Amino acid sequence: MLNNLKPQAQDKILALMGQFRADPRDTKIDLGVGVYKDADGKTPIMHAVKAAGKLLWDTEITKTYSGLAGEPDYHAAMAEMVLGAGYPADRLAALSTVGGTGACRQGFELAAMANPDCTIWVSDPTWPNHLSILNFMGQAHKPYRYFDSETRSVSFDAMMEDLKGVKKGDIVLLHGCCHNPTGANLTLDQWGAVADLLENTGAIPMIDLAYQGFGDGLEEDAAGTRLIASRLPEVLIAASCSKNFGIYRERAGVLFVLGDVATRDLTQSTLAYLNRQNYSFPPFHGQALVTKVLTDPTLRAQWQAELEDVRLGMLGLREQLAAELRQLSNSDRFDFIAEHRGMFSRIGCSPEAVEKMRVDNGIYMVGDSRLNIAGLNPTTVPILAKAIIDAGV
Ligand code: LMR
Repeated sequence: MLNNLKPQAQDKILALMGQFRADPRDTKIDLGVGVYKDADGKTPIMHAVKAAGKLLWDTEITKTYSGLAGEPDYHAAMAEMVLGAGYPADRLAALSTVGGTGACRQGFELAAMANPDCTIWVSDPTWPNHLSILNFMGQAHKPYRYFDSETRSVSFDAMMEDLKGVKKGDIVLLHGCCHNPTGANLTLDQWGAVADLLENTGAIPMIDLAYQGFGDGLEEDAAGTRLIASRLPEVLIAASCSKNFGIYRERAGVLFVLGDVATRDLTQSTLAYLNRQNYSFPPFHGQALVTKVLTDPTLRAQWQAELEDVRLGMLGLREQLAAELRQLSNSDRFDFIAEHRGMFSRIGCSPEAVEKMRVDNGIYMVGDSRLNIAGLNPTTVPILAKAIIDAGV
């Protein structure tokens, strides 16, 4: 049996992690996988999360199974964070998932169950694992143009042109903020135009919200999602706690599904069914950490301040890199780095230039020239800037 297996293409982001680890150079710089790092290259546990963990340790009295769909208090705390206070609880079904990836997967599964003929429209480019999961599922999908590789900004007209091809019941996958891999994001007006298009076509938005708090702020980063949620009758939202709570390995995510009041219970039981079929109960610990942080006023204030430091640190690095490149290139053609938001920017150079930076300078970025800004510090920014110019970008 096992000799029938075929080798699978390696995920390019995870493959890069292995390549980086194997590089013996002390000077190597990891700008690959989307993990936040401080100026010392560490991914620390946030103080508020550590404190929440201690409280849980002291008060937890059982390790028996938790809720199949997850914990209602986690759903409520996350719904308030994502959708804002006063979200329509009577229309909202929620599922705790194995990280944000699990939320995407369960969202795709739900869409396929509800409408086997649907096509899932994905931005070109998108997070490679979106495509990989959709291919693995045998789910029909189509790209819509998103990124202008000349200006390194959203090619909104092309996006809207392509989305005119959606059919009623298709799913349009949107990145809620901090687009991965490009760093280029929709303005609120553009979100409004997307909402108009979805209303007019009857396509259903699914929003992947993996970086809330990493772009313009916790509330600001949810603005597009909230606008869509306030306008469309049916909305799927896959949210991750990996990045903004720094709890990558706890695998805490949530899938929200907004629909009719009348279909809410059916949706909720279908979601629970999906968990049972795929992995039964979702991980508990991450949900408990997040709930504690979000509902304890002291911890919440501490966490928000820590998250804001992370966000402002990345913005500072963006500005430093753009300034450094402005000086070295004697032009403003890299100013887009300061305009982009989140962990990533696609700098728009060839795979050969990316490879040259790896070989010559030990700088690791994804082959499509996505770099993780959080992998830098004030000392490595000038090294990267020089490498970019030397690679002829
Ligand atoms: C990334 O894009 O680097 C992150 O979302 C991590 C991952 O799982 O790919």
